[in-house]
Amino acid sequence: MAFMKKYLPPILGIFLAYYYYSANEEFRPEMLQGKKVIVTGASKGIGEQMAYHLAKMGAHVVVTARSKENLKKIVSHCMELGAASAHYIAGTMENMTFAEQFVAKAGKLMGGLDMLILNHITNTSMNLFSGDIHIVRRSMEVNFLSYVVLSATALPMLKQSNGSIVVVSSKAGKMASPLIAPYSASKFALDGFFSSIRMEHSVAKINVSITLCILGLINTAGPTYTRSSDRAHRVL
Ligand SMILES: NC(=O)c1ccc[n+]([C@@H]2O[C@H](COP(=O)([O-])OP(=O)(O)OC[C@H]3O[C@@H](n4cnc5c(N)ncnc54)[C@H](OP(=O)(O)O)[C@@H]3O)[C@@H](O)[C@H]2O)c1
Ligand SMILES: *[C@@H]1O[C@H](CO)[C@@H](O)[C@H](O)[C@H]1NC(C)=O
Ligand SMILES: *[C@@H]1O[C@H](CO)[C@@H](O)[C@H](O)[C@H]1NC(C)=O
Ligand SMILES: *[C@@H]1O[C@H](CO)[C@@H](O)[C@H](O)[C@H]1NC(C)=O
Ligand SMILES: *[C@@H]1O[C@H](CO)[C@@H](O)[C@H](O)[C@H]1NC(C)=O
Repeated sequence: MAFMKKYLPPILGIFLAYYYYSANEEFRPEMLQGKKVIVTGASKGIGEQMAYHLAKMGAHVVVTARSKENLKKIVSHCMELGAASAHYIAGTMENMTFAEQFVAKAGKLMGGLDMLILNHITNTSMNLFSGDIHIVRRSMEVNFLSYVVLSATALPMLKQSNGSIVVVSSKAGKMASPLIAPYSASKFALDGFFSSIRMEHSVAKINVSITLCILGLINTAGPTYTRSSDRAHRVL
């Protein structure tokens, strides 16, 4: 499928980069077998595809996003692909109480946690910044603050499993570009926060790895359950 050709390289890249930098061993799909993994923003796009890859590798997955209907279909497809188990919990990452309770519930469903993949973003369009503070606040809360809440809540479980946090970021989180100021700010914030925490883990000998994934433009148009028409024009 042409569609998989688009998806496979970046997603494999994420896992390869993760294993290359976090441990001096080669990536093998069996490494994910039986692992307990959360994927956020998994109702479409890259998050959906990561859930399928994890399922094929035999992981336990809990997926989340707002659209329950999509998540339901994705969970049953994960089971078909060979997931050890698959569940969904729907809700919005605008709500930090939800974020906190989500991690606790997911941990209970799987009996622990090995990998927290943070991937969701609030809907973003390309515009000149017009002074609309609400868009900035929502970007910072959904794209950044909820990541902090989710990772802080998950840390006790990740310490127990010597687990890992995977943060999906963007070129726009490393280099400034116009028309996406609120999005870019939230992605830069992720780098500052999680790179700092990574150093703290190293000094405090906390065995929880942190990987920041810097993705370039990915055309996620394809035969998934939902599709936004402006996808091909995005440069996030
Ligand atoms: N595609 C690219 O070109 C590209 C480039 C660089 C980096 N990235 C990064 O890759 C990641 C995934 O991008 P994508 O293109 O796959 O995005 P996407 O297709 O827009 O998917 C975003 C996901 O986030 C969820 N979401 C949106 N608002 C939410 C909210 N308020 N609370 C909880 N979940 C919410 C969406 O589901 P619901 O609407 O159902 O909630 C969806 O599952 C992002 O971190 C993005 O920054 C993408
Ligand atoms: C936020 O989420 C919590 C837990 O799911 C829920 O009890 C609460 O009503 C939500 N708050 C809002 C404003 O939706
Ligand atoms: C995002 O979606 C909400 C409705 O869910 C809408 O009110 C808002 O205008 C959208 N924002 C952008 C930047 O597209
Ligand atoms: C985690 O690492 C510690 C060493 O710091 C080790 O004793 C423990 O068995 C490991 N736990 C798991 C679940 O791998
Ligand atoms: C850290 O965790 C990994 C598993 O992810 C384990 O192989 C390693 O022994 C642990 N190291 C320490 C120092 O705890």
